Amino acid sequence: MADKKNSTQRACSRRKFIKNTGLMGTAFAGTMVSGRALAEGHSSSAEFNQAEHFSQLGPEFIYLNSGTEGSMPNSVIESFRKNIDQWASNPTDSYETDEMLGKHQHYNREKVARFLSVSKDNICLTDNTTMGLNMVILGLNFKATDKVIITNHEHNAILSPLSVLQEKTGLSVIKRDFPAANILSTMNSDELLEFLLPDTDELHGAKALCVSHVYPTTGVRLPLEALRKKADALDIKYLIVDGAQAFGMVDISRGRENITYTDFYACPGHKWLNGPPGTGILYIKNSRIRPPEFYPILSQRMTKYSGHQGEAGEPFPMVEALQVRGCSNAPGFSAMLEAIKFQQELGGAELVERQILSLSQQAKDFILSRSPTALVSPFKAPELLSGLTVFFPFNWDKPDQIFHDENTASKIVQALLKENIQIRSIGFDDPLGQGQKRYALRVSTGVFNTEKQLAYFQKLLEKILKQIFQPK
Ligand SMILES: Cc1ncc(COP(=O)(O)O)c(C=O)c1O
Repeated sequence: MADKKNSTQRACSRRKFIKNTGLMGTAFAGTMVSGRALAEGHSSSAEFNQAEHFSQLGPEFIYLNSGTEGSMPNSVIESFRKNIDQWASNPTDSYETDEMLGKHQHYNREKVARFLSVSKDNICLTDNTTMGLNMVILGLNFKATDKVIITNHEHNAILSPLSVLQEKTGLSVIKRDFPAANILSTMNSDELLEFLLPDTDELHGAKALCVSHVYPTTGVRLPLEALRKKADALDIKYLIVDGAQAFGMVDISRGRENITYTDFYACPGHKWLNGPPGTGILYIKNSRIRPPEFYPILSQRMTKYSGHQGEAGEPFPMVEALQVRGCSNAPGFSAMLEAIKFQQELGGAELVERQILSLSQQAKDFILSRSPTALVSPFKAPELLSGLTVFFPFNWDKPDQIFHDENTASKIVQALLKENIQIRSIGFDDPLGQGQKRYALRVSTGVFNTEKQLAYFQKLLEKILKQIFQPK
């Protein structure tokens, strides 16, 4: 925690230093493509650049860590500021009645729903993924006899509420292990899902399958349509998906990644979408779900659910109960719409996904060209790809020498940060680690990144991987 804070401070001060000393150049400004250019497939055509649209990042900072936090384009920052000003000037109306800032959030939910091709009654705006997953996992009426399936790579956002439930109800959590990184990287979706979720008595009839859409550990994407088929084949009641590393990168409004394949999907606005901090979305497929199947655990409307009926005799959509929970980050929710608009102006979610994957391919190809066994992220099956590229540190001059320890990974992250390039290290369970976590490097290629920036990152990584393993 402290390390991360210090490294952020260092990066900021370094940027200020570069600016102040006049060393700031446009060498790495690179280019970002506009919607028209994306649509026409001219990924190298220069229509605008990072400095112009993400001016807070600055032209010289190569930020390759959208998986931890996104940045915000200028239009989102402007909208966020405007909303805060409006709130401060008229707090009561803002909270009580304002269409965009008010507590019910009908307007913003409608807009988000339209972007995802679902209905407003399926959407609740949250502070983050963790909040959405907690609302779902603690809201569903799990019993002691229920089984819930997870993998050994789930985030604490799933593990934490599940551990509370385990203690409170005694339900069983079945943890399925991912294959070793060297096997995972060459698998396709059928092979992986068969490995993770075989048709066994143990898994059959589980109450819920709680998995991530894209794994922060390895960058593997689990296609939602295939997950749904697996869940149905195993007679699993709820498919609950952690979309923290997918929304804003993967188009979840259509095709095999359609959000409607899931029963519950929680995701952030603040990572790949580049929306404001403290923004997220919870999708609930069954808008009429209600007690005793599901309780709104964080709400000012619980009492209205005790009779299980709304004023007109009909149950309220559950998302309305979850939405009204006191004063929320409504200025942020409204500014998140601006981030959606920004993505639409780039050509929409599908084109943004293509752009992110194309940049990610450049990073994967670079690692593959030098040390193929260092790559953890899948690279063969298109359906498993994401904008996360995970690889173990390796000796550039002896690329078969691969390192899995925390210290080496963090040394490389720090060395890159000194060069004004931000990636991160990530630890995860791997069968070859024999009970010890293995640490790798993770590069996130966001929509504001460019081929030129990646080329520069590759050059610096090569330099560092040569220096760091040099015999003393
Ligand atoms: C898979 C996964 N789930 C959940 C989270 C937490 O996200 P949030 O801050 O939106 O709660 C993260 C954060 O990195 C993540 O990678």
